[in-house]
Amino acid sequence: MWDWESIDADRETQDKMIFKSNEDLLKDRQDTENFETTTSIMQDEVEATVFRIYQVTRQLQELEGKLPILARSNHIFYLKTSLTHLSQSYECLDSSRPWLCYWILHALQILGETLDDEDYSHIAGFLAKCQSPEGGFGGGPGQRPHLAPTYAAVNALCTIGTPEAYKTIDRQGLRRFLKSLRDQDGAFSMHVGGEVDIRGVYCAVSVARLTNVYSSEMFRNTAEWIARCQTWEGGFGGCPGMEAHGGYTFCGLAALLLLESAKLCDISSLLRWTVNRQMRLEGGFQGRTNKLVDGCYSFWQGGTFPLLHSILSELGFKSDHWLYDQEALQKYLLVCCQHPSGGLLDKPDKPRDVYHTCYALSGLSVAQNSPSPLVIGKREVNSVDIVHPVYNLVQTSAAAALIYFNELTIPD
Ligand code: FPP
Ligand code: ZN
Repeated sequence: MWDWESIDADRETQDKMIFKSNEDLLKDRQDTENFETTTSIMQDEVEATVFRIYQVTRQLQELEGKLPILARSNHIFYLKTSLTHLSQSYECLDSSRPWLCYWILHALQILGETLDDEDYSHIAGFLAKCQSPEGGFGGGPGQRPHLAPTYAAVNALCTIGTPEAYKTIDRQGLRRFLKSLRDQDGAFSMHVGGEVDIRGVYCAVSVARLTNVYSSEMFRNTAEWIARCQTWEGGFGGCPGMEAHGGYTFCGLAALLLLESAKLCDISSLLRWTVNRQMRLEGGFQGRTNKLVDGCYSFWQGGTFPLLHSILSELGFKSDHWLYDQEALQKYLLVCCQHPSGGLLDKPDKPRDVYHTCYALSGLSVAQNSPSPLVIGKREVNSVDIVHPVYNLVQTSAAAALIYFNELTIPD
């Protein structure tokens, strides 16, 4: 599962045994309270697999002083190959093609890899074909516009970051499209006549802010609608009354920050819910209560911590680190989620894919880049670029896009 090329860690890290003893790991197992369920059996299986992997990992550090490394060149190879060659299993993503562009481009950028100008231009040209004459982007050329591929296309174009890419976005059309999806109560539907959920709100406000087509009128009552999605558990559901989930929680909190309305959510219950989603034995995050660890939640849950941090800092809280175990998450990602031939995954024995590669790397970036950075293994080998946690773009790309678009006037 992991790459053990002989790379010595920094003296300081090497001296510290970063993996737990068997005895300590066993203490981290779930407590079923003697009541076995389908869920507890599945959790046992995952814990047993991860336990065995961590056991070997500890021995490798003990006996040979080796620490896990990020197999950067393998991931880059896998991502670049995926730009032009995808297996049949991606057929179901034919209406998500801008997502494929974003996941691949963003993951490459996190790894510090760039493409040729020609390739960037080619991808920008493809995304232009996905743009609807009505404004917004569809899942592929000729497809109806939808908020999810619109968010993905805008993020992909901002990752490319060339004037050609920025100019691809029809901002007037985008503004019209966003307005057409707004409900009376401030929520947004994913497409005309489509489902209303918190992803819609996040996608809408993220692209509106990034490309400077935002107006407060467009998002009147939206923050109040988001606040209604916070559940009794503390996380956010997809719409009022639905179960709290990490994906929706990230969307809710990031959108509230973009709307400058974080005060509308109950921070202490959100913090309690989010910290409790980090799995004791695995170190990665689950998406919701009583579910299994998954590499993609490294970002959906892990990415919520910098947002919480900024809210708490305003209230006087000070810390150089996020409020979760950043080391444990990095161990899970580097030891359990790297495919030997490149790409990252949900959990051991699952196939690799570009979605998990993108969000596992985004989560790794957040885990490393707290106010005081914390990188497990050799820093020069394992460090990745810093992401802007609200947009999930590399920070320099988000900043450049904001500078470019904020110089333009807001279209009617
Ligand atoms: C459950 O899947 C997944 C959801 C209910 C939705 C997840 C939402 C996101 C990942 C956010 C999407 C964000 C944007 C910007 C479009 P599952 O039941 O297969 O997984 P689980 O067992 O881990 O909950
Ligand atoms: Zn996943």
